[in-house]
This record gives sequence, structure tokens and C-alpha cells, in this order.
Amino acid sequence: MVVARLAHPADFEGWREQARALAQRWVLPEDIAWHVAGEGPDLFAAMPRRDREDLRAVSVPRAFPDLAESVICHSDPGRFALLYRLLWRLQAERDLLKVVTDPDIYRAEAMARSVRRDIHKMTAFVRFREVADEEGAVTYVAWFEPEHHIVERAASFFVERFTGMRWSILTPRRSLHWDGETLHVAAGASRLEAPGDDAVEACWRTYYASIFNPARLKVKAMKAEMPVKYWRNLPEAGLISSLIADADKRTQEMVRQAPTLPPERHERMARRAPAVSAELPEEIGSLAEARIAAADCQRCGLYRCATQTVFGEGPQDAPVVFVGEQPGDQEDLAGKPFVGPAGKLFDRALAEAGLDRSRAYVTNAVKHFKFEQRGKRRIHQRPNAGEVRACRFWVAQELAFIRPRLVVALGATALQALTGKAGSLTVARELELKLEDGTALVATVHPSFLLRVPDEETKERELKRFIADLQRVGQMVPEMRRDEAA
Ligand code: URA
Repeated sequence: MVVARLAHPADFEGWREQARALAQRWVLPEDIAWHVAGEGPDLFAAMPRRDREDLRAVSVPRAFPDLAESVICHSDPGRFALLYRLLWRLQAERDLLKVVTDPDIYRAEAMARSVRRDIHKMTAFVRFREVADEEGAVTYVAWFEPEHHIVERAASFFVERFTGMRWSILTPRRSLHWDGETLHVAAGASRLEAPGDDAVEACWRTYYASIFNPARLKVKAMKAEMPVKYWRNLPEAGLISSLIADADKRTQEMVRQAPTLPPERHERMARRAPAVSAELPEEIGSLAEARIAAADCQRCGLYRCATQTVFGEGPQDAPVVFVGEQPGDQEDLAGKPFVGPAGKLFDRALAEAGLDRSRAYVTNAVKHFKFEQRGKRRIHQRPNAGEVRACRFWVAQELAFIRPRLVVALGATALQALTGKAGSLTVARELELKLEDGTALVATVHPSFLLRVPDEETKERELKRFIADLQRVGQMVPEMRRDEAA
């Protein structure tokens, strides 16, 4: 008997390496004992190995590693042996994976499906609760009980979806901790370590009850998608029986009621969000007056946390207006746009492109800094569509008074603010665009995108492209160039 040791229950790399070496040495499937560190006593620790010396070449079809990566996460203790048996058989039976009636294949496919389903359930049913430490820093903690060893496989979904938050997902076997930059995989936890009810949960229950549509209720489909075994960790589960019980009565009431009209609030919002080239309201007669009025802006909720309104800056007759996303931490404190790290990079790129910033008007799509407080740090948060829409009023004022020949959208948020539509920046960057009133529009990336590019080579390439876009601005509006008499 040969002992193959694995570092953890879903140790695919460990399994692959050893399985290949064992198969090369002709070790028969029935002669291998697979042992996972920490799981039961290692009875074969002192067993001598008697491998054959003559090596054979081992290869597998392309689809096998994918299948094996899923199967290895299954909780069946026989999964390692099953995979090795498949590996062994594949050396002689090259089309084995296509034989769906083969008992080994059938079992492996069923295990892979069960693992994929479990990953899907984890992405759907993890519910975070807010926990603050002594310094007030917030972490979101969730408790989940997967059926299989899927925690690492599911991690990338949460990292991508919740990159800007600090979170932990505790499970009985393994736990994930994300600090905003690095993912740590740690030992399992107990349900008692998971936080209980929080305020967010109460909101979530209210929200869930309000979106529950009794007329669309299909109890069987609901239980298939949201199996009852997950309910004990779902805050909304407590509502489900009463929502189901009342569904019939509520549906009949809905049928009796007259159709609802759009809320009056929608109309008000539409009136408050004029197109970018809108007429000026009578009470604002100049750019200077717009700046003063914007200082008291409460058109969205961002004014509550920001230090001040950061209005645009530059000559009133500037031929070019650059529009960024929103002020950052340093801009919020200084009350000036593009003075922080993104601003420094912007200045450098303008200089490289031969443009003179002092001849341009520089502003932002949103005039208040949106952030999340994490301890002492204020972490930038992207403005949402409502905030961008509310602030289009001010961008419209700026453009109407300045009447530039060219507007440059720095990034997708600026493009959305200027066109009123969420479009692809990549596509827009290649096009010759115009605003509604005919003003030329150039779309390029936001300088902070360049600050976030992780590898140097790509960063260098993207910076060159950005500079080339700015040079195009210089060609379209020569007065912007340093070498041109002002
Ligand atoms: N990013 C922006 O979009 N604007 C600023 O003023 C600073 C950073």
C-alpha cells in the first residue's frame, strides 16, 4: 500500500502532482491510501513504498482537470480514489469521459454537479452581518454551512463582488477573510462565533417582504431554488411561511385594486435633472453665481458627509472642459478638483502631451466626495446613477456658461453624466462623439484607472494611450498646447 498525503480536503494541486507521479510509476488504484492532513490517524505513516522504476508517460484529455477540480471538492471520502481510478483508466480508454453510462463517469459527473450547485447556493445565500471593532472599523461577517469543500472555489465570487468591503465568511470547515486587499483562508469556525441579528438584517427583511410578489408565488419552485436546509441562516426565512399563507388573499386584493400610477417623486426627479445642454434657470446668471449656489447643493444625499462642494476650476472662456468622476479625499479637503494622486498623474500626462492645464476648465461629474469610512481612512466609493443624475444640473451650468469647443470625459462616470446614458467607455473612446448641442466630445480613461493598473508593463502601455488621447485634444484645439500663443 502507498500513502498519498494531501494538505487539505480540496487540495487539487497536491492530488494532481501525486496522482501523476504514482500513475507514472504504475501504482495501481487499489494500492493507494489517500490521507488528508488532520482527518483521522495516519495509519500508514511508516509504510514503505515499493514503486516501479520504469516510468510511463501519463496524459489526460483536456476536460479531465476541470472535472477533477470540481470532484475533489465533494465531501465523499472516496473522491480521491475515484479520480485516480479515472486517471488510470484514461491511459487506456481515451474516450472514457464521453461514456456517460460508465459507473465511474456517472458518479464523477454527479459529484461535480452537486459541487457546482453547492457553490451556487453559497453565492446566493451568504448573508453578511455588520460588526464594528473597538476603533469603529466595520467588518461584514457571514455564517454558511456548505455541503462540500467549496469555500476556496467560491472565494473569487465574493472578492470580486465585495472588493471594497472587509468581510469574513465563516464555515464549519474553512473560513475566508478579506481585508480589502488580501484573501486569507483559515480554519473552520463554530456557529457561535458568527454574529447574530443586526440592523442591516431588519432592513433586509423589510425589503424582502416588500418585493415579495404574492401573485407570482410558486412554492415548489421556491423550495427547489432555496432548499429548506439553508433557511436557518437566512434572515428572511422567518417571514416566508406568513408570506405564503397570506399570498392568496393579497393576490385577490391586488386584482381588485386600480392600477398604480408612477410615484409623483419620479416626475419631480425628472424635472430636476435637465439634459446637459439645458437652459439656465433664471436665478443663476453667471459661472460665479453657479459656484456659489452649488456650495449649498442638497440635490442628493452626498452633501451630508462631504466636507464641501468641489466645483470646477479654470478660465470661464476655456476652450476645453475636462470632466472627471468626483472629488477624492484630498480634493474634498482642499475644495479643488484633481489635486490628489489622480490629479498629479493627470498633470504629468497633460505635460507629456504638451497641453497647458491652466488654459482648461477642470471639473467633475459629481461635486461631492462619496466615501466609506474605514477606521481613520475614507475609501472612495463610486457615485450611483441617481447621484450622477442629480449633479448633471451643475455640469450643465458649467458647460452653458463656458461654452467650450471640446469636452473631455475622463472615465465612464463622466461619460454617463455628459451623455445621460451608461455606455461602454472602450467603444466611446474610439468614436468621434458630440454632445446634444453639437459640442465635440472625447472619451478617455480616468487617471485613477492608471493608478490602479497592477503591472508595470500594462500601466506604461495604458499611460501612453492616455497621453495619445490628450495629444488628440491638442490637435483638435491647438490653443490648449503649451507651444501655442495663448
Ligand atoms: N478623481 C476625480 O474624478 N476628480 C478629482 O477631482 C480627483 C480624483
